[in-house]
Amino acid sequence: MNDPQHDFERFREHLSVHGNGKLVRAVAARAAIGNWRAAMYSRDDVRQLLECWEMTTADLELVDQALATAWRVRAAAYAPYSQFQVGAAVLGSCGRLWCGANVENSSYGLTLCAERAALAAARAAGGDAFLLLCIAADTEEPISPCGACRQWIVELAPHALVAMIGSNGAERWCTPSELLPWAFGSRMFHRHE
Ligand code: THU
Repeated sequence: MNDPQHDFERFREHLSVHGNGKLVRAVAARAAIGNWRAAMYSRDDVRQLLECWEMTTADLELVDQALATAWRVRAAAYAPYSQFQVGAAVLGSCGRLWCGANVENSSYGLTLCAERAALAAARAAGGDAFLLLCIAADTEEPISPCGACRQWIVELAPHALVAMIGSNGAERWCTPSELLPWAFGSRMFHRHE
């Protein structure tokens, strides 16, 4: 079973390049609760945990909004071939949210996943310092990003957390390097510079 205290600390550590502000702690707290919730929880347990971390449910509002946005933006997917709608939302340390949905093509291989659409939208709008990438789909277990998207996440949001959401409220939270260990990166070809 996930230990929320341990997750809170390791997620905070992962996010520490963004400082230790309220939003950073809210993302780490919501992540720890999200992973733990999959096992068992009650509202009182959550309240108690948040109290230990000197937070209230109101502090988690922006993070919950990011999760809800990823779920809602699925409706904007262009998925006439698979009928499988995926939504994604990126939360910046400034509190701004960007989103994307999957966009398919009759030449199937040209399909763009929701995660890449959201990350491209976020970058193109001048965003950086991403704290969180939420991915949502109507799946029994939390949606898991494809290999290409993992490479994008590691490139553009290495210091973010990733929240994967399924239809029954199931959540899984992790770091990008847990999704793609031993990732290829520019450090490999910059070796001789
Ligand atoms: N898809 C995503 O957008 N994200 C994922 O994490 C998995 C797959 C899309 C691509 C395609 O439009 C549809 O889901 C079925 O593969």
